[in-house]
Amino acid sequence: MRIILDTDPGLDDAMTFVLASVLTDIVGITTVAGNVSLENATKNALALVSSLDMDCPVVSGAHINLSGDSPNAAHIHGVDGLGGIRLPAHKRLASGSDVTEFLLRSSREVNHLWIVSIGPLTNIALAIERDKDFANRIAGISMMGGSSTHGNVTSVAEFNVWADPEAADIVLNSGATIKMSGLNLTHQLKSSDSWLRGLPDTKKSNMFRNFARALHDTLETLTGQREAALHDPCALLALTHPSLFTFQSRRVDVELSGKHTRGMTIVESRPSRAQDTGNVLVGYELETNAVLQLIGSSL
Ligand code: RIB
Ligand code: CA
Repeated sequence: MRIILDTDPGLDDAMTFVLASVLTDIVGITTVAGNVSLENATKNALALVSSLDMDCPVVSGAHINLSGDSPNAAHIHGVDGLGGIRLPAHKRLASGSDVTEFLLRSSREVNHLWIVSIGPLTNIALAIERDKDFANRIAGISMMGGSSTHGNVTSVAEFNVWADPEAADIVLNSGATIKMSGLNLTHQLKSSDSWLRGLPDTKKSNMFRNFARALHDTLETLTGQREAALHDPCALLALTHPSLFTFQSRRVDVELSGKHTRGMTIVESRPSRAQDTGNVLVGYELETNAVLQLIGSSL
């Protein structure tokens, strides 16, 4: 499975790096501002590929969203983006910053390329805007984003879509094959301290465990619970292990102007309309125990 990981690391992004380094052939990493600034996202991505001995390029992408803003989620991931975790020093450098050219060139050169999008969709939207055929050349986009139920950054909007709704709107209407792992799905996959203790004692497993525990620490202060929904890993595993997930084709639209609803993904689920031609494969179910087992056995 050949992928480009488009990411805003971020602690659950970091866990996805670990899994992707084992489960996929990574053509490249493209960074985007989201959880943290583009500078910190790229710095984290370089440290992660170095720590994981990945030999793929890291290309720095959009530092602001299509509206010119730069929202963040530092309250969850820390200003540094990795919850204060310091990875070993390294000499890796970003491979340029023309992320659109990298995405378009890769889509021409790599057969059956999937984009695993685990941050705001700005980079992907810019590639689609530059070349409409991009959406048809790639195999598809497996995105963590949106929700068929509640939000997280607002009561109805999920962070990745909320952080750049215009980009999400462009991507969801691009004609690309899209697998959407939204909060309604990702909240079915939660890490706990007891599960983390059961993970193997390997370098990659210990990295995964440290990122998860840092997330547990933050979420304990915010919610009182030492558990974390494994949002970004869902988008990867839904691609590498589809038999453990259930997706349905649905019409999905992005709210761009609502005072209270901007960034909401509206999933058409009225029984009479559910058979309408969908633009998105929406994730509804996953086999929690099997996916947790899979993560453990992969590390
Ligand atoms: O809503 C969860 C998403 O927002 C995840 O990708 C997390 O890393 C943050 O970017
Ligand atoms: Ca992310």
